Amino acid sequence: MSTTPLIERYREFLPVSDSTPIVSLGEGGTPLVELPRLSDRAGVRMLAKVEGANPTGSFKDRGMTMAVSKAVEEGAEAVICASTGNTSASAAAYAARAGLKVAVVIPEGRIAAGKLAQAMVHGAKVLALDGGFDAALDIVREVVESHNVALVNSLNEYRIDGQRTGAYEICDVLGDAPDVLAIPVGNAGNVSSYSLGFAGYRDAGRSTRVPVLFGFQAEGAAPLVLGRPVNDPETVATAIRIGRPARGEQALGAMVDSGGAVAAISDRDILEAYRLLATQEGVFCEPASAASVAGVLRRAADGDIAPGSTVVCVLTGHGLKDPDMAINRSPAVQQLPAELRAVEEALFG
Ligand code: F0G
Repeated sequence: MSTTPLIERYREFLPVSDSTPIVSLGEGGTPLVELPRLSDRAGVRMLAKVEGANPTGSFKDRGMTMAVSKAVEEGAEAVICASTGNTSASAAAYAARAGLKVAVVIPEGRIAAGKLAQAMVHGAKVLALDGGFDAALDIVREVVESHNVALVNSLNEYRIDGQRTGAYEICDVLGDAPDVLAIPVGNAGNVSSYSLGFAGYRDAGRSTRVPVLFGFQAEGAAPLVLGRPVNDPETVATAIRIGRPARGEQALGAMVDSGGAVAAISDRDILEAYRLLATQEGVFCEPASAASVAGVLRRAADGDIAPGSTVVCVLTGHGLKDPDMAINRSPAVQQLPAELRAVEEALFG
């Protein structure tokens, strides 16, 4: 981990000037972790880009340091976003850091507890709508048209710029781009960022190639796979419960042009990958993030990824974001009297 702000580290690639006030919480520089057991299973070299190690526990911080820095530079007094949870947590933290007001608009009852706690503790105005993410985004887009409030969803280009740094870091650590990048897709901002990031790094001579991009949506929220909007998206991976991705076309083009594709993953397979990562690799991510690993296991089994390829899975958010999921999906805690005999009996039978 570096204490240098992410923007400083990749300043030459980002639209900032000497007069941009940098709002940073020490984002980026996240671990790229080998996944030996899953690699054996898939017959490829799998690594995880552990984005849960960012200050607010998700990749959103890469984009938010840019979006909030530029909002301050441009004189905004407040920021707003629609969110399935992580964007709101990140916006709330960076706005607090910058001294800006912040409002977040979320789907009621459908955001994970950790994410809601973050937005609340950082002092955001939290508005829960009786609709999904897509309706929330429609509304905040209208709000910013007539008020001096900066939109910090991934429609904001600075978010996309900041999130390109994930690709730069992967190239810096591996010495070049991987063969394949696997990534969960919701509003389709992050896959767009990675695509631009890898291409820009290659064009600047900092890497020699770009990876094949495989994106993964949840089966019940797979508009890009179906080729049409999904009106009532449903999945355990609440972070990617999105039926009308704002950057869908751009992202689909990027995946196809790279020689990759977008595919749908069932909730069952997402949760199995979530469990395998936690129990066999010691890596705790949130369910949406595990879609990348589930997708690679599937694509490798189908022969879509050459054996021995280097595959980076972007694990977009920390498992602690969604403690209810972790507790519900794990073996029950054993309740015992506070006695040695009872403990020995439970441990050794
Ligand atoms: N993984 C996690 C953990 C996310 O929170 C998101 C998006 C994605 C993947 C998908 O990224 O939208 O750029 O394709 N979360 C947004 C939010 C929508 O509001 O926090 P994407």
